[in-house]
Amino acid sequence: MRKYLVCAVLILSAVLLVCTASCDKVTTEKLYRHGAVVRSDRIAGEIGLQTLKAGGNAVDAACATAMALAVSYPTAGNLGGGGFALVYSAKAGKVEFLDFRETAPASVTAAMYLDSSGKVNRDKATVGPLSAGTPGTVAGLYEMHHKYGKLPWNELVLPARYLADTGFAVSDFLAGMLLSNKSDLEKFPSTASIFFPAGKPLSSGNRLVQPDLARTLGLIEEQGRDGFYLGENAQKIAAFSASTGGTITENDLRDYQPKWREPIHFQFQKLDIYAPGLPSSGGVVMAEIMKTLALFDLSRFEPKSPGYMHLFVEAARRAYADREEYLGDPGFVRDYTGQLLDDSYIATRARSIDTTKASVSEEIQPGIAKDHPEPTQTTHLVVSDADGNIVSLTYTLNLEFGSKAVVPDAGFFLNNEMDDFAIAPGQANAFGLAGGQPNVIAPGKRMLSSMSPTIILKNNRPYLALGSPGGSKIITAVAQTILNYAVFGMPISRAVAAPRFHHQWMPDAVYVEKGGYEPKVLTNLIGKGHTVEERAPYCEVMALQFSMDGLYATGAADPRGPGCVLGY
Ligand code: DON
Repeated sequence: MRKYLVCAVLILSAVLLVCTASCDKVTTEKLYRHGAVVRSDRIAGEIGLQTLKAGGNAVDAACATAMALAVSYPTAGNLGGGGFALVYSAKAGKVEFLDFRETAPASVTAAMYLDSSGKVNRDKATVGPLSAGTPGTVAGLYEMHHKYGKLPWNELVLPARYLADTGFAVSDFLAGMLLSNKSDLEKFPSTASIFFPAGKPLSSGNRLVQPDLARTLGLIEEQGRDGFYLGENAQKIAAFSASTGGTITENDLRDYQPKWREPIHFQFQKLDIYAPGLPSSGGVVMAEIMKTLALFDLSRFEPKSPGYMHLFVEAARRAYADREEYLGDPGFVRDYTGQLLDDSYIATRARSIDTTKASVSEEIQPGIAKDHPEPTQTTHLVVSDADGNIVSLTYTLNLEFGSKAVVPDAGFFLNNEMDDFAIAPGQANAFGLAGGQPNVIAPGKRMLSSMSPTIILKNNRPYLALGSPGGSKIITAVAQTILNYAVFGMPISRAVAAPRFHHQWMPDAVYVEKGGYEPKVLTNLIGKGHTVEERAPYCEVMALQFSMDGLYATGAADPRGPGCVLGY
């Protein structure tokens, strides 16, 4: 087995050094019986596919793919970040939710990113080790494998280590990202020495070899999670933090724990939709939007019609208002999920929607009694296997290359996830979200997320699995893809590619993808009182659809990004 994977990686990296192979964006014409992988980067996807072919299950392939993305897709693939996974076990017939979100280190304070006038210092909150939470990725993947994996752990890390050691050809995508993030990346000598070896960013086709990262992966391969959270690697992270004003210590790393939690489960038409619960807002907000829409007759509308867009926007406006007011880490603040998803509450919210006229966000009040006394880059992958198991996993460093700071001699980026906390009242983060009291910074707390890896069953069989990067827009992009597929009857490739629109309560504007909508549709929305803003294409949805018996998979990778679909 070991030989098989090593050979696969070596052959693959050799091939990829000489050519940039094209890949399938959609495979609706292909049905994969034994397994399929959809993710943002071809090399990592090949490693996932080889893992399935070598007898691994969906969890093994997801772990191997995620480890490989940390090497080949450093904008978002990571060891130094965190995320969420939904796992469908065919044998148990149930979906589980693993939370491996970063936590705030023990010595943080609520005011740590504010200047003397109370304004957020955006640089402090997003660049350098101070912006990093204690990473969760390695502990999360290790835990998921411990519970469900079939192949030995070391076999899943080995291909990534080989890839880091032998190198691969820089893709157009990575070259572009290095160039556009140059000024922040070059602030850190440990980053610049890897990605700007001759003083300028690596370009497309250059070979990227990462010996320090290979060494770190070697520790994880041999020692499992301890190879990252204890000993040599923990000392490197803590020393780097201490010398650059960061807060992560060896104790923070030692104490980090991923958590199995109940996923959000709601019904929409005949579908059972599963999405992450807190500390992701993804499941709650998606459920609020879709449960509200279920009270209207959507079959009357076309997907690009102002009538449908208006209803969706009004449902989203209300759900994102609740996000700000009520949602935060349930280990620290009261959990309002039950009340927010209660049918009568949703019905009251739906009744407040005027089908002809936009509401004004400032006038949208939180919907439930306020009795609580207590205080642009991610990546998604979907994998299925021959036994019908599925993993839908989104993990992130937060923004591209996270904090931009590589841990010296360890070769991986630290995240800048602390920016997802509500840093100061009314001051927006990188995604325009201000966040409320439940999401203020506190030691050990998980920052509220929008990541929404989703698995949908119909008649107790797999139906669709999907997710996306994109910060606050993830939730509406995933919800619209589900509606495109399940309500508007689009094939999965079109459901993923179709233009998107977004509203998040504040700012009070409907973002529409540029060129995606006819002028008369936008004029109609403006006539209803909406502020409409055109935006560049956003999010990168990855989806796998399943045949009615749940056994065959076919996939779609968003044409907006570099992802593709592989299977056999
Ligand atoms: O957890 C969140 O909601 C964000 N940190 C996700 C960041 C993201 O998706 C950036 N990608 N484009």
